[in-house]
Order: sequence, then structure tokens, then C-alpha cells
Amino acid sequence: MEVTFNAWDVSRYGGPAVLKPVTRPVPTPKAGQVLVRIRASAVSRADGMMRAGQPKFARLFLGLSRPRAGLVGTCFSGDVVAVGDNVTQFRVGDAIFGEAGLQFGANASHICIDEGGSILKKPDTVTYEEAATLFDGAMTSWHFLTRVVQVQPGDRVLILGGSGSLGTAAIQFAKALGATVAASASARNADLLRSIGADHVVDYRAEDPLTRGAGYDVVFDTLGISSYRAARPALGQGGRYMCPVLGLGLLRDMILTACIGHKKAKFAAAGMSKPQVHREELSEVLALMAENRFSPVMDRSYPLSDLVEAHEYVETGRKRGNVVVV
Ligand SMILES: NC(=O)c1ccc[n+]([C@@H]2O[C@H](COP(=O)([O-])OP(=O)(O)OC[C@H]3O[C@@H](n4cnc5c(N)ncnc54)[C@H](OP(=O)(O)O)[C@@H]3O)[C@@H](O)[C@H]2O)c1
Repeated sequence: MEVTFNAWDVSRYGGPAVLKPVTRPVPTPKAGQVLVRIRASAVSRADGMMRAGQPKFARLFLGLSRPRAGLVGTCFSGDVVAVGDNVTQFRVGDAIFGEAGLQFGANASHICIDEGGSILKKPDTVTYEEAATLFDGAMTSWHFLTRVVQVQPGDRVLILGGSGSLGTAAIQFAKALGATVAASASARNADLLRSIGADHVVDYRAEDPLTRGAGYDVVFDTLGISSYRAARPALGQGGRYMCPVLGLGLLRDMILTACIGHKKAKFAAAGMSKPQVHREELSEVLALMAENRFSPVMDRSYPLSDLVEAHEYVETGRKRGNVVVV
């Protein structure tokens, strides 16, 4: 009898309802690959955007008329259950976490992944649910705060969108790097943000977090809700506005500020870095977790069979931290 695994198919772009459960034959790992029994996988804002094929230029990578990969899900954790020939870094029984990238198929029960890809061993102290989220908010925010800029002790950092996956990670990282941290959130999330280290929380529904003359060294707009032009008056000498959501306005401001002025606009696609860079950055994040200086904020956990509901919840834009399916 053929052994099958559960996954979620996405054969056209659209809302959460385009996702359909499928079963496929469990693959045999090729040389250099490991087969993982997935224990948890993330459902992120980026997963929703890829399902919807938005922004449209992303379809150059995802597939012009329909999603080329056919399956959904990017970030996962689980156990190695088989290894292909020549695998040297992992053994059957290893707990790992990783990112499937453009291969997709992480919202599933099994996945085959290259041992040289974006995978790392999961420490026992990190839960599968937590580990499944690390390639999303944690890696992205760490990349922005330590690679796109290098936050220094004493820097003044403003995180716009402090209660999301990126925001909750960014607050903790900026504190760990020695910055003074302000963050914007609605009143219902203010206590959460203070509990993870924000020195000052601005209720974005009551006041504009971008106070003129605030002198921020870094404004990290985790949601793409503002712009370099709006943030510029709140930046100090040599200040940086960074945003992980690319639009034409940000592209224009990056090009302009690269040539003139001491304040700069920055974007990066953290997920597109080489696997070696991912592993290096995530090792640094794991070190912070081991020192209890970072812990991913976990919101809801759904069974894998409820992936559509998980996507619908993430789509509300109201999640706090991270959502997983298990
Ligand atoms: N470039 C990259 O490498 C990269 C990598 C990963 C993700 N991304 C992108 O990063 C973005 C952020 O993702 P995420 O997962 O962190 O978002 P998210 O978790 O979905 O953000 C939701 C949170 O944002 C808060 N929020 C909504 N509007 C707000 C506002 N005007 N001001 C302040 N807070 C507000 C909500 O709080 P309330 O409900 O209280 O309003 C909610 O808690 C996504 O667009 C994703 O695609 C980019």
C-alpha cells in the first residue's frame, strides 16, 4: 500500500478558500536531502500574500498565472524521519526547523528538504510551535536590526506595528542590542508590548507615533503603514527608515536617499538571503533565546486541517505575534 502525507494545495491565486487539502505519496529523500515529519508550521502574513499572488510583481517568482509550486507554507519544524545518501549534518530522530522558501509545502505532514538548505537543529528548550515561527518575524527583524542597520547601545528605535510577528521580535531584539525602544500599537496590546521590553508605547489610534523632532536613530515600519517621507521629521541626524514591505514609493526613496542626504530609506528581503546567511542569523537568535533575551510571542495554534481558518484569522491583520498549525 502506498504511504501518503497530508498537504494543502493552492492551484490558483485568491482568498483562503482557494486552499484545498490533498494527499500525496510520501517522497523518498534524494541524495543530500532529509525527509521531515512536520510537527508545526507557521501561517504568516507573507504566506497569505503569496497565496493571493500579491503584490502582483511577486508573481514573477511565484508563477505568472497560477502558483507554480502548487503547495502552501514556508516555515516549519519537525523531526527527521529519513535521510538520503551523502547526508552528513543530520540523522534520523533530529528535531529541526527551517524554511522551504520557493519550494513551499511546509503546511503539511511531511517535506523533503536539502540538508544544505535553510534548516537548523532545534534546541530542546525551544518548542516545535516556537521554532516553526523563527524564520518569519524573528529572522526578518534580526536581519533588519543587525544587518540592514547595526543598532547600537543607546540608540533610539521606534517600531511601527509593535504587536505583529516582526514587531514583537523587533522590540525584544532592539532591547537586547541596548536601544531605547518606543513602539506603536493599539491600546489592547500596550501591556503585551511593555511586558516584552518596550520603554514607551504609543496608541496609534490616539496619536501619531512619528513625533516631529523625536530624533530616532531607527524607525522600523514593520507593516509598511507609513513612509520614509512621513518618518523623516522624526529621524535624527543619520537616521534610518526601514520597511520590509516593498512598494514603488519606498523604492523611489531608497534610490533618492542613496544619493543625497544623511537620512536613508531601506528595504531588504530577508527570506531571499543564502541558506548559509539564514543559518548564521538564526544561530544568533537561538543564542539570545538561550539567554532568555528573546522569546517568540505566540498567538493562536490551529490543527493542520483548519488551515483555511488560520489564513482567515491572519488575514484580519489583528494577530499578535505568530500563528501556527500543528
Ligand atoms: N521583507 C521581508 O523579508 C519580509 C519577511 C517577512 C514578512 N514581511 C512582511 O512584513 C509585514 C509584517 O508582517 P507581520 O506578520 O509582522 O504582521 P502581522 O503580525 O499580521 O501584524 C498584525 C499586528 O499589526 C497591528 N497593527 C495593525 N495596524 C496597525 C497600525 N496602523 N499601527 C500599529 N500596529 C498596527 C495589529 O494590532 P491591532 O489589531 O491592535 O491593530 C496586529 O497585532 C507583512 O507585510 C509581511 O509580508 C517581509
